[in-house]
Amino acid sequence: MKNIKTNEQRLWNSLMEMGEIGGTEKGGCCRLALTDLDKQARDLFTEWCEAAGCTVRVDKIGNVFARRPGKNNDLPPVVMGSHIDTQPTGGKFDGVYGVLSGLEVIRTLNDNNIETDHPIEASIWTNEEGSRFAPAMVASGVFAGVFDLEYGLSRADLDGKTMGEELQRIGYAGEHEVGSPVKAFFEAHIEQGPILEEEETSIGVVTDAQGQRWYEVTLTGQEAHAGPTPMLRRKDALLGASKIVQEVNNIGLANQPNACSTVGLLQVFPNSRNVIPGEVFFTIDFRHPNDDVLSKMDQQLRDVCAKIADEMGLEMKFEQIWYSPPVPFNTSCVDSVRQAAEDAGYSHRDIVSGAGHDACYIARVAPTGMVFVPCENGISHNEEENAKPEDLHAGCNVLLQAVLNQACL
Ligand code: GLV
Ligand code: MN
Ligand code: MN
Ligand code: MN
Repeated sequence: MKNIKTNEQRLWNSLMEMGEIGGTEKGGCCRLALTDLDKQARDLFTEWCEAAGCTVRVDKIGNVFARRPGKNNDLPPVVMGSHIDTQPTGGKFDGVYGVLSGLEVIRTLNDNNIETDHPIEASIWTNEEGSRFAPAMVASGVFAGVFDLEYGLSRADLDGKTMGEELQRIGYAGEHEVGSPVKAFFEAHIEQGPILEEEETSIGVVTDAQGQRWYEVTLTGQEAHAGPTPMLRRKDALLGASKIVQEVNNIGLANQPNACSTVGLLQVFPNSRNVIPGEVFFTIDFRHPNDDVLSKMDQQLRDVCAKIADEMGLEMKFEQIWYSPPVPFNTSCVDSVRQAAEDAGYSHRDIVSGAGHDACYIARVAPTGMVFVPCENGISHNEEENAKPEDLHAGCNVLLQAVLNQACL
C-alpha cells in the first residue's frame, strides 16, 4: 500500500472549484463562517463526499463528518480535516486544503479498492478562523470539551448574530451530539510561514503548536469637538489605544525568539473626522510556544495597559477572552507523518505550528498529528496566499499513508 499515491490534478481541481465559492478579484477567498457562502461550500463538500460513497452527518455545532466505512465499523474512525471558513481577505488554501486532502484520500482509497479496518472520515470544523465569531477553533473546542455547547452556540459576531442562529439559518444545526471517540486525527495545512519554502523542504512534520492568548480592550475617554478643545484637556481614547498598540509590539519584540503580538481589529467611536474619539474597542493576539513566556507577556500587557489608561485618564475594560495553551502532538501520529514522508522520499523537517488549528483542540481527546506543506513567500491570511500543486500533492500523499498506518490493524 506504500506505493499508492493520491491524484494531484483532482486535488488541485477540487481546491480551485471550492475556491470559487467566495472567490475574490485578487484571487483569494472571502468565505466567513456560517454565511451563505459557507453553506454553499458545505453543500458542495457533502455532494462530493456522497458521490465518493460516504455517509455524511452533522453535529449540533455544525461540524460535518463524511464517513467511509471500514471492515469493523464498531471501531472508532481515523478522522482527517480542517476548516472551510476564511479570513475576510483570506486565501484558497488555509483550512480548505486539509478538508479536501481528506476527501482526496477517500477518493484514492476508493480507486484502489482498499478496505481499512477502522472507518475513515473527512471533516469540516465550524468557525476555525475566529474572525467572524471569536474565539478561533470554537467547534473543535466544543468537540474536545474545552467549551460547552451553549458557549459555542452563543458566540456572537459584531452585529450580534450568534453561531446558533446562523447555523439554523443555513441549515447546518445538526442533530448529532458533539463529541465521539476518534482513533486518530490528522490535519494537513499550508505552513502559513516561511520556513519550509526557505529551506526547500516539502513536508513539515508538526510536533507542537504554540500557545495563544486573545484579549478584548475597550478604552473610554470623552468625545469632544476637534476645534475648540485644547490639546491638554482631551481624553482621546484612540490616542490611548495607539500607545497600547505600540506597547503590544514592544512586548513581542522583547520576548524573542518566537513571541508574536498583534492588534488586528480596532473600532473607533464615533469615528467622525472632527470628533475626538470617545471610545475605542480593540483586540490583542499573543502567541508563544512556551507557556511561561506567554504568561510573562500577559503580565507585561496588563501592567502597561493599566499604566497608559491611568496616565491618560481613560477608563479601561480589559478582558482575556481566550487562552489556548501550547500543544504537543501525539508521538505515534507524529511518527506516522514523519515515516510517511521518509518512505515517499520527500524532504521533511520537524516544525512547530505558529498558527492555531482545529488539531490543537482535537489533540486533547484523540491522538493527533499534522502535516505542513510550503506556501508561497510564507504568506497566509492574505488573498495572495498560494501553494504549488506538487507540494499540496506531497502533503496529501503523506496524509494518506499516515492515515493508513493508523487505520489498519
Ligand atoms: C487562525 O487562523 C489563527 O491561527 O489565528
Ligand atoms: Mn487554517
Ligand atoms: Mn486561518
Ligand atoms: Mn488557524
